[in-house]
Amino acid sequence: MTAKLEEGIFISFEGIEGTGKTTQARLLSERLVEKGYEVILTHEPGGTVIGNRIREILLHVDHMGMSYMTELLLYNADRAQHLNEKILPAVNDGKIVVTDRFTDSTIAYQGYGRGIDIELLKSIDLIAAGGIRPDLTILFDIDVETGLKRNREINKVDRLELEAIEFHKKVREGYLKIAEAEAERIKIVDASLPLKDVSEKVWEIVRWRLGI
Ligand code: TMP
Repeated sequence: MTAKLEEGIFISFEGIEGTGKTTQARLLSERLVEKGYEVILTHEPGGTVIGNRIREILLHVDHMGMSYMTELLLYNADRAQHLNEKILPAVNDGKIVVTDRFTDSTIAYQGYGRGIDIELLKSIDLIAAGGIRPDLTILFDIDVETGLKRNREINKVDRLELEAIEFHKKVREGYLKIAEAEAERIKIVDASLPLKDVSEKVWEIVRWRLGI
């Protein structure tokens, strides 16, 4: 039987590199599907055909010369497509959308990491994505050294991961500030715990949010 929600729900997973959030997003989706919910598992940048092309431009290691503004606008272009083509239709149809990254990534990486004015980011977000925020965000927190090491171990290297460690530290601090300012929406999970413990924490939070 399908457990359809009257209004759908929009959940995002956030965090620095190497937190394991992609695996956790998959595990959560599988668990929700087992319970009979209709789930759309997606990610940014990407998640649509057009978005995947934008992702390729954004993350290619040949593109180290990309200007910060080009980067910012491409992430927003991706989000505009993702939201309109995939996220909003699914939520409006009563589904649960789980996205691996959304606007908080832009605030953390382009805002706190690159140093672009946060108010400017919010204005561009209003144009690209109507200022829409998820109903629930889970922030996977881990120290930068451990996160980057985890990704190196699985040979995951892209343009952003090649940034200096200082950049990633600013991103992590940024995420923690965003979470502090929006404690109702954003719940922090310690991503240094064993995978199974992390997924149990995620499940607890999602069950609480769905009231199940
Ligand atoms: P990932 O999907 O493998 O996590 O890679 C996406 C990379 O893009 C990651 O380094 C975070 C970065 N990013 C931004 O800098 N800004 C954004 O708005 C988004 C969605 C991702």
